[in-house]
Parts: sequence; C-alpha cells; structure tokens
Amino acid sequence: MDLSVRIGNLTLKNPLIAASGCFGYGVEYADVVDLSSLGAIVSKGLFLNAREGHPAPRIVETPAGMVNAIGLQGIGVHRFVDEKLPELRARRATVIVNVCGTTLDEYVEVSRILSEAEGVAALELNISCPNIKEGGIQFGCSLHGTFDVVSAVRKVTTLPIVPKLTPNVSDVASFARAAEEAGADAVSLVNTFLAMVIDVETRRPKISNVVGGLSGPAIRPIAVRMIYECRQTVKIPILGMGGIADARDALEFIIAGANAVQVGTANFVDPFIWTKVIDGIGDYLTRHNVPRVADLVGTVDTQAKDKEWISS
Ligand SMILES: Cc1cc2nc3c(=O)[nH]c(=O)nc-3n(C[C@H](O)[C@H](O)[C@H](O)COP(=O)(O)O)c2cc1C
Repeated sequence: MDLSVRIGNLTLKNPLIAASGCFGYGVEYADVVDLSSLGAIVSKGLFLNAREGHPAPRIVETPAGMVNAIGLQGIGVHRFVDEKLPELRARRATVIVNVCGTTLDEYVEVSRILSEAEGVAALELNISCPNIKEGGIQFGCSLHGTFDVVSAVRKVTTLPIVPKLTPNVSDVASFARAAEEAGADAVSLVNTFLAMVIDVETRRPKISNVVGGLSGPAIRPIAVRMIYECRQTVKIPILGMGGIADARDALEFIIAGANAVQVGTANFVDPFIWTKVIDGIGDYLTRHNVPRVADLVGTVDTQAKDKEWISS
C-alpha cells in the first residue's frame, strides 16, 4: 500500500501532518509522538523577530470546537533555526515551517533564512491568521496580495511553497487559483473562521482580543466544501484541514480533494491521535482495494445515479 504524497519536489511518507500552532515547534511532542512517523509537522508561525502574542485569556472552548487568539506568539526565525531545527533533524521529522510577515519583505526575508537552513522541507506561508492586525490576513484576503506574496517568495527559494488560505472570503477557490498562478507548489486550507464569544454575565468578550478564530469539528463541513471547491479549480496538491478528529474525517477530506490532511485542535483532545488516523486510512485502503492513497484524492461521486443517499 502506498501512502506517499508528492508536494513539488518533496515526498511525504504519508498524508498526515500536524497543523501549525497546535503542535508547538514539534520538539515539545517528541517524547510522546514519533515525529518521523508523521508525513510532516508544521511549526508554529514564525516572524523575523520574537513576538509575545496577545494577553490571556487567549482561548475559549465552544460547542464542538474552540476560539483562539494567540496573536502568533513565537520565538522568531533565528532562534527556531538555532534551537529547534537541530533536534527536529535528529528526530528525522519532515519539517514544514509556517512563515508569517507583517510586510511582503518580511515574508521574503524569513523564507530566505529558512531556505538556507538545514532541515526545512517546505514553507507554509501564513497569509490567513485572523488574529493579528498587521500583515497576514490582509494579504490572504486580497487576490493581488496572495499572488504578490507567493511570487515574491518564489524568487528566493527552491523549497516547496504552500500558501495557507483563509476561509474568511466568499470564493476561496479564486485564492487557490491566484496562488497556483503565482507559482505555489500546493495550497493548505482552512485556517480558522473569525468568531466571537461573549460572557453574558459580565457582557465582556471571553478572549482578550475580542474576536478570534474558530477551529475544531464545528468547522469541518465548511472546510470540506472549500476543499471540494478548490479541487475543481486547481491542479496543485491541497493540504486540507478543519476539525479532523479521526480517520473517517481525514478520508472525507481526501475524497473531497485533499492530497494530504492536517490535524490541529484534535491533538489537544488526544495527543495519541496520530497512529490511529494513519492506521485507519491504511485499513480503509485495504478494505476498498485502493493501492495508493493518491488514487482516492477527489473521488467524491457527485453524479451517482441512485440519489437515495441524499436523503439518508
Ligand atoms: C491554538 C491555535 C493556534 C494556531 N496557530 C496557527 C499558526 O501559528 N499558524 C497557522 O497558520 N495556523 C494556526 N492555527 C490554525 C490551525 O493550524 C488550523 O488551520 C485550524 O485550527 C483548523 O484546523 P483544526 O480544526 O484541525 O484545528 C492555530 C489554531 C489553533 C487552535
């Protein structure tokens, strides 16, 4: 059975990836999870310099999910390269770095530094964080901004580039197309949905940033729909995520059109989720006689003659 996934010139051993911001820098989980058994891990978002993020409270639980506004707290790209990459290399992790910027030049500079470092497999360009005021989502909510960031980073790296798209737009597929036209090797989606939670007794927002990003199973059907729309529009690989909590969820994304999947919030519920998802995908392929996971991508049958399933 072949679980491998191609992203540009990179081959992942399987389609399961730890999502950015939900798996630290990877090293924090190294004693609990065999990092080399994952298709890849995505680091927490990194700017050029360290950031403190927003004051607490920064997360709140919601029905079937959570709202967060961490504010991209991070150690900055230089400390990541010096302090985290050596251990990630030693653990044989496939490392995708989540690149942030407040300006186009910052995306380019962080990407350049990471391209010269040893042990970075790909760059995920975070143009979709809803929780910071400058940069980020402003690029991701503009077709020109998306195109410009991807094409500027394209000029300084041979690593696969994977812009991470925001779901907070009306036509996400047009953003995937802009990314593809600018030279992206893949797109990842979805980042979190803009959301708000209020404590009615105090009449105050439950997180300090007032608004934040919704993640977890609550967003899954919307994310699946967005993956499906992007699959109809672009040829490049799609890394799909949004509320995946078991192998069936992961398979749903793959059948909708994702070449690989990322798991974020579910890792907070069950840090041992990883082997269960990989094994579950393997079992499914065996049961359905599908030799390669790649053969399953985008195979949703929307033309079925027998429409009884629609009401079931
Ligand atoms: C606490 C938290 C921190 C996050 N930090 C980042 C980040 O630094 N960069 C990024 O691109 N996405 C970040 N995300 C978004 C996730 O990577 C993912 O896109 C989103 O949560 C949807 O997947 P999920 O429902 O499996 O969590 C974060 C999400 C959470 C919950």
